[in-house]
Amino acid sequence: MSRISELLAAMTLEEKIGQLVMVSLGAETIVTGPKAAQEPSVADVRAGRVGSALNLVGRDRIHALQKVAIEESRLKIPLLFGLDVVHGYFTNAPAPLGETAAFRPDLWEKTARLAAEEACDDGIHLTFAPMLDCARDPRWGRIVEGPGEDPTVGRAFARAKVRGFQGDDPASPWSLAATAKHFAAYGAATAGRDYASAEISERTLHEVYLPAFEAAVKTGCLAIMPAFSDIAGRPVTGDRRLLTELVRERWGFEGIYVSDYDAIGELVAHGVAADMAEAAALALKAGMDLDMESRAYPDGLKVALDRGLVSLELIDATVARVLCVKERLGLFDAPFGRGDPNRPAPSTRLDRRAIVREAAIASLTLLSNRDGLLPLASTGGRVAVIGPFAEDTAQMIGPWCGLGDQDEIVTIRQGLTAAFPTRELVFARGCAPDYVEDDADEEKDTALIAEAVALAATAEVIVLVLGEPAELSGEAASRADPTLTGRQAELADRVLALGRPTVILMTCGRPLIETDLLERADATLVAWYPGSEGGHAIADVLAGSRAPAGRLPVSWPIAIGQIPVFFGERPSGRPYVPGEHFTTQYLDIPNAPLFPFGHGLSYTTFEIEPPIVSAATFRAAEGLRLSTRVRNAGERAGSTTVYLFARDVVASTSRPLLELKRFETLELASGETREIVFALGAGDFELLGPDLAPCCEPGRFDLSVGFSADRAGLKTISVELRADPVVA
Ligand code: BGC
Repeated sequence: MSRISELLAAMTLEEKIGQLVMVSLGAETIVTGPKAAQEPSVADVRAGRVGSALNLVGRDRIHALQKVAIEESRLKIPLLFGLDVVHGYFTNAPAPLGETAAFRPDLWEKTARLAAEEACDDGIHLTFAPMLDCARDPRWGRIVEGPGEDPTVGRAFARAKVRGFQGDDPASPWSLAATAKHFAAYGAATAGRDYASAEISERTLHEVYLPAFEAAVKTGCLAIMPAFSDIAGRPVTGDRRLLTELVRERWGFEGIYVSDYDAIGELVAHGVAADMAEAAALALKAGMDLDMESRAYPDGLKVALDRGLVSLELIDATVARVLCVKERLGLFDAPFGRGDPNRPAPSTRLDRRAIVREAAIASLTLLSNRDGLLPLASTGGRVAVIGPFAEDTAQMIGPWCGLGDQDEIVTIRQGLTAAFPTRELVFARGCAPDYVEDDADEEKDTALIAEAVALAATAEVIVLVLGEPAELSGEAASRADPTLTGRQAELADRVLALGRPTVILMTCGRPLIETDLLERADATLVAWYPGSEGGHAIADVLAGSRAPAGRLPVSWPIAIGQIPVFFGERPSGRPYVPGEHFTTQYLDIPNAPLFPFGHGLSYTTFEIEPPIVSAATFRAAEGLRLSTRVRNAGERAGSTTVYLFARDVVASTSRPLLELKRFETLELASGETREIVFALGAGDFELLGPDLAPCCEPGRFDLSVGFSADRAGLKTISVELRADPVVA
């Protein structure tokens, strides 16, 4: 008999349910949900009433509790310890949306690897990441946690992160089990309000929101966290059709489902369960394995069994899956393997700092640069750095920063001071970053603004460090008005009115809609939340020792009323024609975003040649090679990202105007030309037919290459997909 069958045969019902219970411990360090976390209960662990925990950190505390499980519980089943290790444990890479802007799967993987090493070194087994929610609505604060608006980018991000966290062998002491979350369509929350219902079509679910999760499963991801929310009335936490029939049975998922915080109990509030027993039964039958913090399983599962709502066989099968993941992680054989102080981490602190600095540089996104204001010369007149964030450490690492080591964060001020030793830098906060609610602050801000404007007026160049405070970004941080907070806009307006060369340096977790200010600034560099080395990375780019390399992973709206605005929209029967009234348009703003997906400048310019294909007509099984040549036409080295889009011109269902198929980021020396070849296979020409089954429909496809999703800048070639020969 296998270890798992033997255990199951020996377990009491209480011990079985205990394996399905995950509790939040260690309240004083990390709080990630509405309920106060508890101190570790040794009695519960000893009695086998708890199988896993989250939010407990520190290898000594983790090992102490593990020791109780291994030495004092009846069956000696190891505990599983999880934590949100999203973009770093001690050392932070850019927050995910910013990191996505690098369009560098190699870096995405490396930063996950280093986070895994630090977390495993502290005794953690499982991370609740990567967050793979496609998001097209910057009102939703959690847009910062994921890979932006496009499913193809989401897929690439999923693969890189799962590989990075888990490595090659889940049992390795340096492997951190990954959790793909929040499955699915959590990012489609109505009107961008967190936890709200998603009202999307089945087609959009399959085409836009599911692909990244499928990629995570196919990469071997060990866990999935279902979303809090419902899709068209079905809370995902209790949706057997999605969790079991689609993901387990069709995609072949072999890991475990970890509920979101309290989500099983919340099935009652959703109105699909009358009490905890019904909630527990609904989730268990859907395929949910671990109950994170809702107490539905510990309090409701036995009642559900007594009422005949669930069977013992189902409980056994669920427990077996949990034990199986513990076994795959090597916990039975080496319960103290992660966090062994005698085993040095494969990378050094210096390696990790270098990687996050590189990731930050690659993520910095230059939206505009009139007259080549950036980079700033190393010598020259005074530079005034104005705004509330230049010395703010939290603003560098952003939300979901794990244990983000505050003492090790490089601020913008520190970075600039190191990078400009021979130029005078002066600093003024200008205003508080937050909403100003009382008069005292209002008065203080008025004085701060006046002082900052006066200082700016003495400078040759001004750097306005603006943004959204990190605590207003992330979970439960929806904003109906995602603009600059507090009196920052007023500060910026007055500084820009001075008419001096001004750079806006935006630190944020979502596009902030400040069209007027961004149009008036001479240059705008979006820093996102750039991580522990953020200050150095920003300074590297402002001083020009490195070129910015980020590209927008989301369209940047021109106005709030445009939301959602994304490049993958379907054609209208009345496409926009300037001057024609009865075409799809707003009367008061343009249709196009202020900056399209993929937009981002370097300190050089790139040119791209029209694409060439290996065949003008082809069959799906034969595939197609498309190539293009990219030239760095400027004086400096730099990197750019080339996007390959397709449009299926005539199909049984209307297809998006652009579908991203591939992207590639390349670094070119001044004057260098490089050929890029994309190999396309049958899957690239597939669509979901009218019945949502994948199929290839013959006909014309337009294939376009370019540096962003701005259709006007793309170079296009048309190809013809021929029907497969009819087999007699
Ligand atoms: C969040 C998850 C997170 C969990 C545990 C929840 O509130 O939605 O993303 O993994 O808490 O911290």
